[in-house]
Amino acid sequence: MLELKLDRVSKHYKKKIAVDRLEYTFQNGIYGLLGENGAGKTTLLRMLVGVLKPTSGEILCDQQEIGKLGGEYRRKLGYLPKEFGYYPNFTVHRYMEYLAELKAVPPEMAEDRIQRLISQMGLEHVAKDKIKTLSGGMIRRLGIAQSLLNDPEILVLDEPTAGLDPRERIRFQNMITALGRNRMIVLSSHIVSDIEDIADEILLMKAGKIITSGNLDSVLKTVEGKVWEAIETEEAAEAFQQNYPISSLKNMEGGKVCLRIISPQKPTEQSKEVTPNLEDLYLYQTFRTHF
Ligand SMILES: Nc1ncnc2c1ncn2[C@@H]1O[C@H](COP(=O)(O)OP(=O)(O)OP(=O)(O)O)[C@@H](O)[C@H]1O
Ligand SMILES: [Mg+2]
Repeated sequence: MLELKLDRVSKHYKKKIAVDRLEYTFQNGIYGLLGENGAGKTTLLRMLVGVLKPTSGEILCDQQEIGKLGGEYRRKLGYLPKEFGYYPNFTVHRYMEYLAELKAVPPEMAEDRIQRLISQMGLEHVAKDKIKTLSGGMIRRLGIAQSLLNDPEILVLDEPTAGLDPRERIRFQNMITALGRNRMIVLSSHIVSDIEDIADEILLMKAGKIITSGNLDSVLKTVEGKVWEAIETEEAAEAFQQNYPISSLKNMEGGKVCLRIISPQKPTEQSKEVTPNLEDLYLYQTFRTHF
């Protein structure tokens, strides 16, 4: 099985440390990267695909440094950057043909694969349309389709679900789950539920470090006993919002508010402990310095 190992990988931009001495090993399966803006997710993904070189440390694919593997490594990769480049005047089909050539997909296989990916991503009805006439979500789907053209062993997706509508998100999740059975998929997202639903391993990044990692059950253990539900008046609810991370807030009948509060201690006598979810963990970890 393929293995991708980060060996004390750092990336500095002048004085800014974007990624800080990461140690981690990826194997087959779906890895979900979560973290607030600027946590270092994109920088890490760009290093994984070799677009960026680490300032120090090494990324090893089956014990060999990826820079040294060069084309051999690139052929294993599929990559969807957050802003992917395309030619606006190309049609969807032509663009896929063009990329299949660039990625050296054997010509006798290319057309079948293009058709299958266009249909999997729900783009059949726009296959003959110019890319510039597509909606943002459709362009995103085209980006996902192109990343799969070479049937990559390692698939790296930077916020693949940004801009997808709920139906497309589900379609995408199902596709990734099926693809993840026999390859490595590393994706980032701000949509916690996407990660919760599909990732086998969750990596939470903060200030260039992986602060928590593991499967859903194990990462949620960190917040067990720290998530509470309380029904409060509007005034009390406002005070809570000043002092605690609140992962949800619902208006109830009679002007009351139901709050989901993250707190190491029971926030009020009437609060009820509830089962944590990934959103709670995310808030807990990103607010942690406040406790
Ligand atoms: N080209 C660059 N030059 C200087 N600093 C950069 C550059 N790219 C990223 N950074 C900085 O590195 C840090 C990590 O950025 P990165 O884009 O990896 O974060 P991210 O987790 O992907 O954030 P987002 O969720 O907003 O996409 C940030 O502080 C960012 O400002
Ligand atoms: Mg990013």
